Amino acid sequence: MKLDYLQLEQFGAVALLRLSRPEALNALCVELMEELAGVLERLEQDRSVRALVLTGGDTVFAAGADIKAMRDRSYMDVYTSDFVTVNWERLASFRKPSIAAVAGYALGGGCELALMCDMIIAGESARFGQPEIKIGTIPGAGGSQRLARSIGKAKTMDLVLTGRTMDAEEAERCGLVSRRVSDATLLDEALQAASRIAGYSGPVTMMAKEAVNHAFETSLSEGVRVERRLFHSTFAIDDQKEGMAAFAEKRAPQFMHR
Ligand code: CAA
Repeated sequence: MKLDYLQLEQFGAVALLRLSRPEALNALCVELMEELAGVLERLEQDRSVRALVLTGGDTVFAAGADIKAMRDRSYMDVYTSDFVTVNWERLASFRKPSIAAVAGYALGGGCELALMCDMIIAGESARFGQPEIKIGTIPGAGGSQRLARSIGKAKTMDLVLTGRTMDAEEAERCGLVSRRVSDATLLDEALQAASRIAGYSGPVTMMAKEAVNHAFETSLSEGVRVERRLFHSTFAIDDQKEGMAAFAEKRAPQFMHR
């Protein structure tokens, strides 16, 4: 598969996907998002891949949706083509664990893309923001919703209404990012975390992710019920038998991902 806007590498069971449109600060044009959705579809089917790291360049993760490409689009056009739904939501529905490794700007759709991943690891240079207000619009790829669920109303309103950016220190303090590391170690840290996840049972990490994500979709009692059923389901998986046997026998587990 020829890729124009992405670079794909694989390290063991971890896929490393780089946004690569540096001349436009990785602005998320329709073509890039189409490519991203296609690659994610392939990675979803690829049994040799059990975790994903999504990253950008050294100074920019992504500066948002492509403003120049969308500036003249009409209401009927964006509404009928379901702009920023088609292809964009593919990452949110990706079932394998995903980590966004962010250095530099993650603005607008860039921040929203990072928020669709399961974890964000930030380099010191990371700058997060939803600056759409400055260009006469509002977040359209989940920024007002996923960000509010991640960092709460006060900070989300601050970012969405003022259009200011948040640095890595503030992002860690308010829980947007799970780890803050130096830019130099960002990719290593993300790949290490992803390969640790990929070393566990593939179907069980998928269930763990599904359970946590359910917390944002439902009431507490319903969420706990779903978690309990998924927990019960792990008992039908060979890797649960292996994991518990290995613990009892004081040896490392040999997960077979089934
Ligand atoms: N769309 C299209 N092109 C973009 C872009 C974007 N979002 N962001 C940057 N670029 C382009 C610039 O136009 C420029 O291109 P030229 O060299 O051809 O002029 C190039 O990338 C470099 O950008 P700058 O010269 O602006 O770089 P800078 O270092 O001075 O500033 C920046 C960096 C602060 C990120 C600035 O580029 C910027 O503010 N970008 C726009 C950020 C933004 O508003 N994002 C939200 C987009 S809307 C959205 O995402 C909606 C949604 O929810 C889906």
